[in-house]
Amino acid sequence: MISAYPHLIDLNDYPVSWWNGLLTQAQEIIKNPALYANSCRGKLMGTLFYEPSTRTQMSFQTAMLRLGGTIIGFDNPQTSSVAKGENLKDTTKIVSGYSDVLVIRHPTVGAAKAAALTADCPVINAGDGGHLHPTQTLTDLLTLKCEKGRLDHLTIGMCGDLLNGRTVHSLCKAMSMYEGNRFIFISTRELAMPSYIKDILRAHGCEFEEISSLEEALPMLDMLYMTRIQKERFASEAEYEAQKDTYILTTKKMKLARPDMIVMHPLPRVDEIEIAVDDDPRAMYFKQARYGMYVRMSLILTMLQSTMKTELLAGSTHPGVRCMNPKCITGKELYLPASFTGTGTTLTCEYCDERLLLQH
Ligand code: NCD
Repeated sequence: MISAYPHLIDLNDYPVSWWNGLLTQAQEIIKNPALYANSCRGKLMGTLFYEPSTRTQMSFQTAMLRLGGTIIGFDNPQTSSVAKGENLKDTTKIVSGYSDVLVIRHPTVGAAKAAALTADCPVINAGDGGHLHPTQTLTDLLTLKCEKGRLDHLTIGMCGDLLNGRTVHSLCKAMSMYEGNRFIFISTRELAMPSYIKDILRAHGCEFEEISSLEEALPMLDMLYMTRIQKERFASEAEYEAQKDTYILTTKKMKLARPDMIVMHPLPRVDEIEIAVDDDPRAMYFKQARYGMYVRMSLILTMLQSTMKTELLAGSTHPGVRCMNPKCITGKELYLPASFTGTGTTLTCEYCDERLLLQH
């Protein structure tokens, strides 16, 4: 299924040269923001946030306002017709008809792709459940480019909830496209990186290691990416309680790190970084959030200028076969056409990227 609009569902749907262009444009905006103050005059951005957000939502809104455009949207679906039972298709169809670009965050995996299928303007994925978060990755890439001066040959530590954290999934996929990057995954066994992400790293010939000790990893890293334990994605409070506070970055642990290592975090922070670490010049997370605004300005401009079409579903339907991933949007919005790539029993759902989750 090919859409008439450019959409950003997964960064890896675009070539690396496209990402690099966005980053270069973001750096131009940082240098001379006044030049862009009227670039989106007369354009309107809709934001549909079905999940809580501070940075992503406000940086998108600020980005559009700083480009001279305007905004509409909700940050609490319970104050919209969603509370009356309206499905995702109808809400996005209507709001995309009012807007020039639509930004959507949803708790269900694959929701942004599902919305894009029938939207009447470009759709940007601002986070779909524990799956992907491409605009956080653009933020992270811009931070690395500006603060480390390169996107290749980096040793990257990722720590915390690697199973449910969409930011680390998107970032791994992106960094695997640049040469010589190496990953150290620091987590408990229960919250390890999903195997589909590790398969992508293997396919790109990226080295990775999985370890449980933050102290052991710290001296090796160019960048440490800390993440929050994603409480809202756990089946029970007890399972969350068993995981929280396993990894806390302290000023004492920072002594083990190299003087040029930077600490990044998509935020919000809960307890995983001690407040005193904020005063360490290597703590980059507040600056990182500001880079997020500039890269979103660059993205909005690009999406509004692009005439590209996007291939949303490239695979095929198999009669009677639905994805069995309980977190996949196709199990909740039943009108959606199931679509899989691959053959036989190794089908991959095109909404959630899970494999072998079939029922006949
Ligand atoms: C992240 C998210 O929503 O995935 N936050 C963000 O967008 N900056 C990380 C998180 O919630 O832990």
